[in-house]
Amino acid sequence: MTDSTVHPDLSGRRVVVPGGTGAVGEGVVRAYLAAGADVVVPTRTQERADEFLRVLGDAADDRLHLVVHDYTTFPGAAQLADEMQRRLGGVDDVVAPIGGWWAGKPLWEIDESDWQSAFTGLASTHMAVLRAFLPKLSSRGSYTLIVGASAFTPVPGSGLVSMEQAALLMLRRVAEAELDGPQRIHALVLGPVGTRLAEAAEPDWVSAGQVGAVAVAASAATEVPSREFRLGDRAEAEETLALLRTGQPVSPGTVVAVSTMEPKDGRHEDLVALLAELAPRIRAEPGCLEYAVHRGHGETGGPLLVIQKFTSIEAFRQHSTTVANQVPRIGALLAKPLVPPALLEPVPQVR
Ligand SMILES: NC(=O)c1ccc[n+]([C@@H]2O[C@H](COP(=O)([O-])OP(=O)(O)OC[C@H]3O[C@@H](n4cnc5c(N)ncnc54)[C@H](OP(=O)(O)O)[C@@H]3O)[C@@H](O)[C@H]2O)c1
Repeated sequence: MTDSTVHPDLSGRRVVVPGGTGAVGEGVVRAYLAAGADVVVPTRTQERADEFLRVLGDAADDRLHLVVHDYTTFPGAAQLADEMQRRLGGVDDVVAPIGGWWAGKPLWEIDESDWQSAFTGLASTHMAVLRAFLPKLSSRGSYTLIVGASAFTPVPGSGLVSMEQAALLMLRRVAEAELDGPQRIHALVLGPVGTRLAEAAEPDWVSAGQVGAVAVAASAATEVPSREFRLGDRAEAEETLALLRTGQPVSPGTVVAVSTMEPKDGRHEDLVALLAELAPRIRAEPGCLEYAVHRGHGETGGPLLVIQKFTSIEAFRQHSTTVANQVPRIGALLAKPLVPPALLEPVPQVR
């Protein structure tokens, strides 16, 4: 997906993108500019502003408003929101790709300065921006948080990122529960992203441009209520985009995944033990409704039937990504290679 992507027309929409100068933010800013919106990118330093102008090149037209302003504190974000109200007459949408990656230490080695910068600092910035802008959004507006899938999956050595991103998802859910207007609050939950700063992006990674295109489509789709969109990879981003643009519901309903596992001779109990070990983690995954393992009635060996139920196909796909590293362990115990499960959905007439 490139800047030649056809976006819905957002002419006249006033969009604020704090964190827009960053790697993911660039895709967001380019997409809203290409859609015809007025785009405000606050940045904390003049150096970042100058660098970002160079990065955007010709895409930086007169609808881009780069504002050097410290938006990371409660008063700073509130001043920015007031200033935008005065200058633009209001704000329609906010997209917040604020903050990046942090890595280095297990939790017990984290010192207070790590905690302040990678958790408190970023969470405070998100909170400052949300509280300043959410009450000011126009009735057609939306607020979109950008987070990573590390919100669900602990990454050893990067625990502060997982904790902060998980807190942001709860921030979104609380705001959704508390909102009493027509505005929407979304989150885009990203897998690894191909950006200008990614040295070796894989072909199936979602691109910064795709993230921007989904954010634009979510802003435009005023009929789609507040929700989390998973953009784990390029295909999932394309699917979300297509569904947002056609107005079809993004979550068509529950999905049941059924698979048969035939253990090698003498390995039945080992396979049962491994599936039992994985059970608590799988059941704790977002969207998992059921994870059950069966064997022939009255038997103590033989094939196992695994039945899993998820709230949506997106949740099931996320589950497949999460357990991918366990497939070799399971495969080593099987007489035949593991095949993808059969996916079933409820028949609407029989409820
Ligand atoms: N890059 C990826 O592969 C990837 C993958 C999954 C999820 N994500 C998520 O996408 C979001 C943006 O990530 P990114 O890779 O674009 O990050 P980035 O390149 O570091 O950009 C983040 C932007 O956030 C702003 N910011 C405000 N307060 C900050 C603070 N205390 N520390 C650092 N930056 C601060 C900065 O803007 P100014 O300096 O101009 O103010 C900066 O340009 C994050 O939530 C991240 O978890 C990224």
